[in-house]
Amino acid sequence: MGKDVIIACDFSSAEETYEFLDRFGEKRPFVKIGMELFYAAGPQIVRELKARGHKVFLDLKLHDIPNTVGRAMRVLSELGADMCNVHAAGAAEMMKAAAEGLTREDGTRPILIAVTQLTSTSQEQMERDILIEKPMEEVVRSYAATAAGAGLDGVVCSPLEAGGVHEALGKDFLTVTPGVRLAGDAAGDQKRVTTPAKAKELGADYIVVGRSITKAEDPLEAYLRCAAEFTD
Ligand code: C5P
Repeated sequence: MGKDVIIACDFSSAEETYEFLDRFGEKRPFVKIGMELFYAAGPQIVRELKARGHKVFLDLKLHDIPNTVGRAMRVLSELGADMCNVHAAGAAEMMKAAAEGLTREDGTRPILIAVTQLTSTSQEQMERDILIEKPMEEVVRSYAATAAGAGLDGVVCSPLEAGGVHEALGKDFLTVTPGVRLAGDAAGDQKRVTTPAKAKELGADYIVVGRSITKAEDPLEAYLRCAAEFTD
């Protein structure tokens, strides 16, 4: 499991997404669909991307009462998603319900990971707005441990946190890491960025790359460069 580049398809319509992916020819990269595209294009986009031969990470970050999350996950599982996620802040019971809801009749289920603290949240915001006063790193590790205890497969975290998570929870517990840029590309709104090569060195299992590929003049070339740095 793991060691793959996932392209964040942060587009506002299905047409734009297919046009972009058509530039990859015979290649069928692992893609990530976030809230914007899912809400705009609807569940059909997942079926279509699966039919085209892509693996799909549905980055919808569910967070609700266990019953609601479990039932919603059943729907996402039937769509054929390969990876789904929840907020670890929803707590263990909710994460267990998510895993149960995702499990198909044959016992298989998509990979299920938890968002710990969003990489856009600062220590100061955490303390002031949600009254969590522990250091960020401790919070991330503790949320990851709760996710592992609930039977999840891994977490979304910064590549810089991947080593710590593996140290605490073992190398098989997956780290899916955004905040990755090809050397020389702008960081944009991401605070802590690394290159694919550095993410590999830090032990990330999957890297999620958006703008370094989607905004590149030649997206296929940028994707192949990410894949070569990260997987070779
Ligand atoms: O363009 P860029 O490479 O920054 O895209 C990163 C992707 O990963 C975006 O879709 C963003 O929403 C997502 N993401 C993130 N940080 C998290 C969770 C998800 O950047 N903690």
